[in-house]
Amino acid sequence: MIPDQKEMWNRKHKEGEHTSFQDDPSSLALLAEPKFSEHSTILELGCGVGRDAAFFAQNGHKVNATDLSEVVIKQNQQRLVNLGIEFSTLDMQKPLPYPDSSFDTVYANLSIHYFEHKTTQEIIDEINRVLKPGGLFVFTCKSINDFHHGNGEEVEESVFVSPKGHVRHLFSISYTEELLANLFKIDLLKEVEEEYSGEKSVMIQCIAKKTGKKLGRAMKFTKSNARETGWDGLKLWVYNSKEDFPNASAAYFEVTKAHGRIKTTKSNRVYYVLGGEGVFDIDGEKNKAQEGDVFIVPKNTPYDYWATDGTVLRLFLVDAPAFDPKHEVKLDE
Ligand SMILES: C[S@@+](CC[C@H](N)C(=O)[O-])C[C@H]1O[C@@H](n2cnc3c(N)ncnc32)[C@H](O)[C@@H]1O
Repeated sequence: MIPDQKEMWNRKHKEGEHTSFQDDPSSLALLAEPKFSEHSTILELGCGVGRDAAFFAQNGHKVNATDLSEVVIKQNQQRLVNLGIEFSTLDMQKPLPYPDSSFDTVYANLSIHYFEHKTTQEIIDEINRVLKPGGLFVFTCKSINDFHHGNGEEVEESVFVSPKGHVRHLFSISYTEELLANLFKIDLLKEVEEEYSGEKSVMIQCIAKKTGKKLGRAMKFTKSNARETGWDGLKLWVYNSKEDFPNASAAYFEVTKAHGRIKTTKSNRVYYVLGGEGVFDIDGEKNKAQEGDVFIVPKNTPYDYWATDGTVLRLFLVDAPAFDPKHEVKLDE
């Protein structure tokens, strides 16, 4: 049985346990911030005394900083004013109160290592949900090689409840890889040794990028997570990249003008006409396109398509192998 942690954290924060380093950003924040895009949106889970939230805000990012402890959130609201940080109380074991694809980064320094495996996996799924496609998940957890290993009763593999009732779930490199598999591509994963709160600690640092959501060996991509792009007369939603799945990629198009003549030197293309009307010009041969039609364009075949005036030609496209911008040739210029 895992004891309630909220009371313990409120007490620790009331006693000012972390105030000695409240003005110094963590090593993880220093490592990760240069990888953030300018003015990015960050959700911080378990922000504690707000040292990293303050650092990110000072570097121009928009930060939602959250913690289980209302005591530390109140302290932060009084101390860290004029930085535009939105502080709020949040228990990350509950569904995150944000819509899908809300943040460029979810950041958690030494705060997602307090839960049993099932809860940890649910938290990771929620983090994945609120991240934008390609968003970053940046975190540190104490390692199985930390001195806390063996401190108290082991209630589940590598989950210890200390005699004082403090829960710690110690991570390994392989556990982290398993946890993120199918959801994230790992950019950085390493074990580091550093001083934390006056003690030498061993930690796992990780920076990972959101990919799709895999279902066993298959994958599910949603329109809300698709990358929206386009140009005058054409809007398109890219569901997956060759990094997600090199053998095939999918995209949805809304066309009101012409695409422009192209060929691909790598992918065969299958277009399914979902609605509207238009023309596919394949290798100089013009074909009417209407709902339910399928056009297969083999690689190296010049083609173009356009919508009939006043209609939106809606297309679903599969590239096999997956779309690769290096192999797309524009033929109009
Ligand atoms: C070791 S401190 C790290 C604080 C901060 N990230 C830092 O690096 O200074 C862990 C923080 O996680 C918070 N925490 C613990 N359980 C949590 C939960 N279920 N949801 C959100 N925050 C939690 C604690 O209140 C505490 O502030």
